[in-house]
Amino acid sequence: MTPHISAQPGDIAETVLMPGDPMRAKWAAETFLDAPKEVNAVRGMLGYTGTWRGNPVTIHGSGMGMASLSIYANELITTYDAKTLIRIGSTGAMQENVRMRDVILAMTASTVSTPSSTIFKELNFAPCADFNLLNAAHTAAKAKNSTVHVGGIYSSDTFYDERPDLNEQMTRHGILAVEMETAELYILAARHQCRALSVLTVSDHLLTHEALPSQERQSSFGDMVEIALEAAFA
Ligand code: ADE
Repeated sequence: MTPHISAQPGDIAETVLMPGDPMRAKWAAETFLDAPKEVNAVRGMLGYTGTWRGNPVTIHGSGMGMASLSIYANELITTYDAKTLIRIGSTGAMQENVRMRDVILAMTASTVSTPSSTIFKELNFAPCADFNLLNAAHTAAKAKNSTVHVGGIYSSDTFYDERPDLNEQMTRHGILAVEMETAELYILAARHQCRALSVLTVSDHLLTHEALPSQERQSSFGDMVEIALEAAFA
């Protein structure tokens, strides 16, 4: 057990899907896993373990932002031996050719700072996805006829951004979309020799100012869960 996860040793699978929202973890586990069992509820951060096509899988919330994700991912990796961590979440598009509901596979994540910045100091570490997961997720997304983009994203520390110039620079440099968790997830995976990937769907658009209603977010969320599961066990 850890300060934030009450699961017993052996309750967490090697493969962990991490939505930001704990209620999405519950929904995904009940919808896609066989025999899902609640393994954590500390502070309402729900985690479930079940099986998918016979493979053990945990679906555990990360919370919002790199500080929160860092707590759960650290504990899942170092105490419970998670080896494959796939974030499934929403993102704000930063390019004209990226549309609402499109799927984005984050090859790398640019960032101003992460909880790991104190380690790197002046070094610009380049966090990147696991290639095999990325490749398999791309194949799975194509098979579902999803419109999928692969490229760099921006992991921001803020949702309500007081630095619009930074977003403009990201757009100018081809960054596909903004979210708040991936850079730290990839850094932790690198540090602990794990595999990581972020599978994201566009829920809002920074250039067109569109935003998906919450009900529609649910159906695109289901597609992401399937893509993540296919990729994990390809
Ligand atoms: N996640 C989804 N949309 C976002 C946005 N516009 N900024 C940061 N994180 C997000």
